[in-house]
Amino acid sequence: MSGPDLRRAAAARALELVQPGMKLGLGTGSTAAAFVDLLGAKVRDGLDVVGVPTSEATRIQAAGLGIRLATLDEVPQLDLTIDGADEVDDQLRLIKGGGAALLREKIVACASRRMVVIADAAKHVGTLGAFPLSIEVNPFGLAATRLAVEAALSASGCEGPVVVREKDGRPVMTDGGHMILDARLGRIPDPERLGAALWSVPGVVEHGLFLGIASAAILAADVGGKAEVT
Ligand code: A5P
Repeated sequence: MSGPDLRRAAAARALELVQPGMKLGLGTGSTAAAFVDLLGAKVRDGLDVVGVPTSEATRIQAAGLGIRLATLDEVPQLDLTIDGADEVDDQLRLIKGGGAALLREKIVACASRRMVVIADAAKHVGTLGAFPLSIEVNPFGLAATRLAVEAALSASGCEGPVVVREKDGRPVMTDGGHMILDARLGRIPDPERLGAALWSVPGVVEHGLFLGIASAAILAADVGGKAEVT
């Protein structure tokens, strides 16, 4: 089975959690996009829900599918957020932010009674950190913030290069007008310690460690050419 098939299988299982009238957080990335596609089809068939998107990309997709949308200011408490992840461990700790939407994703997830992760089972890891950790920073004083981030990493037992994320030779800017530092750490021995250390750095707006936020993970694996969803 291909990656898209597995992402769709996980998304389809998550759709079973959606009840009429729910207020939903809509994640960002290819797996969340598969969920939004399926949700759009349900809405076309008459399902009434309201969605709060975690990025402009998701807002445009969902609006195009006719899903009723609101902002978190209009609907500050959500029933359920469905989102993808770059990595998930056994304790439902996540790395997110590969799509540069981590700040809005975390705000929306934390405003939700439940956050359910959907992913290809290949995202399940023993130790977080093989995927670069996204750190969203204010552009002001970038070089100083980067030095302070490197010190925080080192004090938390993590080592590895920290690079400004770029696309087409320019820094990637988030929907909130911030930049992203990618920390290529290999492994994160103590995610809670690292998360706290990063928050202590002025200039860090948010980091991609989602700790104690996800309530469940729906993972789809290729088993003998069929999607096994757990
Ligand atoms: C977006 O910022 C990310 O947190 C995504 O949710 C994450 O990168 C997973 O994306 P895919 O579903 O495309 O792998």
